[in-house]
Amino acid sequence: MPVETAHAPERSGGVLPIALSPAQTARVTLKCLEQIQGLRNGSLATHSTRVGDMAATIALAMGMVTRDAIELGSIAAFHDVGKVIVPDAVLHKPGPLTAEEWGIMKQHPQVGYDILSAGGDPALDRAALISLHHHEAFNGSGYPHGASGNDIPLDARVVAVCDIYDALREDRPYRAGFSHGEAVHIICNGDGRTTPENFDPAVLQAFSKVHSSLDTIFALSMGSPSGAVPVPARSGAGRSFKEAA
Ligand SMILES: [Fe+2]
Ligand SMILES: [Fe+2]
Repeated sequence: MPVETAHAPERSGGVLPIALSPAQTARVTLKCLEQIQGLRNGSLATHSTRVGDMAATIALAMGMVTRDAIELGSIAAFHDVGKVIVPDAVLHKPGPLTAEEWGIMKQHPQVGYDILSAGGDPALDRAALISLHHHEAFNGSGYPHGASGNDIPLDARVVAVCDIYDALREDRPYRAGFSHGEAVHIICNGDGRTTPENFDPAVLQAFSKVHSSLDTIFALSMGSPSGAVPVPARSGAGRSFKEAA
């Protein structure tokens, strides 16, 4: 891919001409990371943005202070930034991962944490913890540390539900997406690959109240404002949801 250089600002000596406030620095950093995610994988970027919007929706339904919920919406969009180190052959593999490939994939929460926490900014530190914990499960069956219950930050418990919902809805190289109703049913009742015990009951309760808004977020992202996203046939073969999200 050609690199666009026409609009590169001129600087002398490699020193930025102005000092940025910590909040500005965080915004600039997140904008840069957004570009990296988009260049690395377009579907990763759209998945991540939707999960952020969905997380803010659920957080508000749970009574989170509006400002905190809006910030969560922004930073949750970087929960998968660690996937930038996962090779395309693994990320797009049309089938179950080998043990070695799964080992690579399982590194992405920690890699995301390392990227986001490198600068010591409070908002990015919050994002780093979401990345680290978004594949943990409320019953302790998740990864990378097998944390459980309230040892998992609330942000990550919210993102975990949104992440699975979006992963279920999205077409993946190894299967077509599920309908909204199917995705809600799977999250609330389980299906052999996931179980409701994976999720914080309070988050699930909020999800049950506002899941139609998550459908709208997904539909708008797909260019279908009516909410009716066509669902093609599925083969049935594929990865677990833990591998997909
Ligand atoms: Fe994800
Ligand atoms: Fe993930």
